[in-house]
Amino acid sequence: MMDKKFTMKIAIDGPGGAGKSTLAKGLAKKIGFAYVDTGAIYRTVGYAARSRGIAPDDAEAVSAMLKDIKVEARFECGRQDMYLDGEFLGDRIREHEISHYASAVSAIPAVREYLFDMQRSIADENNVIMDGRDIGTVILPDAQLKVFLTATPEERAMRRTNELIEKGQAANYEQVLADIKERDERDSSRAIAPLKPADDAIMFNNTGFTPAQSLEKLLGIVADKLGITEAQYEK
Ligand code: DC
Repeated sequence: MMDKKFTMKIAIDGPGGAGKSTLAKGLAKKIGFAYVDTGAIYRTVGYAARSRGIAPDDAEAVSAMLKDIKVEARFECGRQDMYLDGEFLGDRIREHEISHYASAVSAIPAVREYLFDMQRSIADENNVIMDGRDIGTVILPDAQLKVFLTATPEERAMRRTNELIEKGQAANYEQVLADIKERDERDSSRAIAPLKPADDAIMFNNTGFTPAQSLEKLLGIVADKLGITEAQYEK
């Protein structure tokens, strides 16, 4: 058997709206790692369920659907594009309703099992910054650095509302806050791979931080724990 390639892995977990993807994307650019958005992968399965009129909490129907679909993440120019059965989904997986579908299908063990190898093999091939809910605990327990990113539900709801407005989608702060709290509860209390910090994760609460301040703080953690600096990458 061939030896596995050595790759560096950074796991960033935390609840929705904590700013994981902005931060992970920013860090990936600075230090030349691939950014992997695992939420987008669950969103694709949620999207598939909705397209077929399957209730996302119908474990039996969702599990049966997995045999008929092909979920692919393609990486180009530092961008991760999701494809379902060969069709590029673009921003369709970002619709507010898909957040609910993704959260519900992600509580089904067969879905997590179905996506495990895919996530693991991306990290076996590339230096990655992977964000999600169970990256440090289940997918990459061997990550050299694990960060658990949080912010208050109110701040996360405000950020999500502004994001939706910027994209021209309907957004109501109170509704977004209620949805965030419901999703936190479901993601944290599910029986399989619940959202929780790994024992060796560094906790980072970025309430009140701008995205630039969060990135600066994370770069400091990366330099401190891994000895990787932006300057090194630029050389
Ligand atoms: O990060 P996001 O909001 O795009 O994720 C959408 C949903 O997918 C989230 O509510 C829970 C699920 N998810 C998961 O269970 N495990 C992951 N590693 C990533 C996302």
